[in-house]
Amino acid sequence: MRNEPIDLATAFGAFDQLWSPRIVTRVNDYDVRIAKVAGEHVWHAHDDTDEFFLVLDGELRIALRDGEGGAEREVLLRKGSVYVVPRGVRHRPSAPDGASILMFEPTGTSSVGDRHDPVPEHVDATTGHAL
Ligand code: NI
Repeated sequence: MRNEPIDLATAFGAFDQLWSPRIVTRVNDYDVRIAKVAGEHVWHAHDDTDEFFLVLDGELRIALRDGEGGAEREVLLRKGSVYVVPRGVRHRPSAPDGASILMFEPTGTSSVGDRHDPVPEHVDATTGHAL
């Protein structure tokens, strides 16, 4: 495979599906994934990995619940913000007005984690798609 620069604007222009991450490249055993998002994702947790978010456009909200019965809180990530959801923490991303995001996570990580609420139809419960 040739190693060429990837223009993210072009990559975002190549798909329309929401909550359906595209793998743009890999770093060691991590995927670099991009996604268009709008509305709500699903509550879920990744038992074995942290999850890195970078907001490229718009605003992303991430609701968080620490532990069983833990209090819920929400972080707001404006354009240009990064945030890491620690492993095991239940979270639900949302973007009322839409956002474009970039994520780092180990190759093979499911976008709905290892534990999740019933997955709604608008959420793609895969491990990412090739561009
Ligand atoms: Ni997640």
